[in-house]
Amino acid sequence: MAEREISQAVIGRLPRYFRYLGELKDREVERISSRELSDMMHVTASQIRQDLNHFGGFGQQGYGYNVEYLYREIGKILGLDKTHHLIIIGAGNLGQALANYMNFQRQGFIFTGIFDVNPALIGKKIRGIEVRPMEEVTGFIRQNNVDIAVLTIPKSEAVAVAERLTAVGIKAIWNFAHVDLDVPEGVQVENVHLSDSLMRLSYMIDRYESQKK
Ligand code: NAI
Repeated sequence: MAEREISQAVIGRLPRYFRYLGELKDREVERISSRELSDMMHVTASQIRQDLNHFGGFGQQGYGYNVEYLYREIGKILGLDKTHHLIIIGAGNLGQALANYMNFQRQGFIFTGIFDVNPALIGKKIRGIEVRPMEEVTGFIRQNNVDIAVLTIPKSEAVAVAERLTAVGIKAIWNFAHVDLDVPEGVQVENVHLSDSLMRLSYMIDRYESQKK
């Protein structure tokens, strides 16, 4: 597929397309029109056509999109045709909740290990995987080809831990700690702040209420 410059806005929408197409695939739907996809996703059909045209247009006029093909191609664009090995640093509330969520596996993210500094948590099993002490993390990354680290530790620890992990070859960090990380060039960081989403929700409530007046 020809690589063209794709805007961040389109890239940002791809996971949602991927999710809906995955559900259609599970229901064994073979084809879907942009109109039907639009009804499901509450996005205009023209937006869908525009977005998907960036990738060479998977659709055929009057025939709709081939669900399996589109799912696979969007998966490739998102790099989900490859397997990623992921470790979680911080086996507290959030770390355990993420470790217990099985669905990431389906998208090729293999939960390989979980680490903590708290001796009371070491050895505890989460989905059959034991919490390991941080002393073992560098050896583990090297031996298990780990490429992604999930940081669910206090923000006061995150910068130093990120430095330690990238020094042994971690390629990407899914950062839940509320702090900006300074990582070497080539290391990818995705910051996740659930509160941003909650603030957007608050904005929408406000806007709706003020429009009613
Ligand atoms: P928690 O206190 O339950 O868990 C933190 C764990 O990190 C503890 O088990 C602790 O022993 C461990 N830890 C501390 N220093 C460590 C180190 N150097 N190496 C390895 N493990 C270490 O806290 P919780 O609720 O799980 O939150 C974890 C982090 O995620 C916090 O920074 C919190 O602010 C953040 N958070 C972020 C959210 C977001 O939307 N981005 C949502 C919820 C929490």
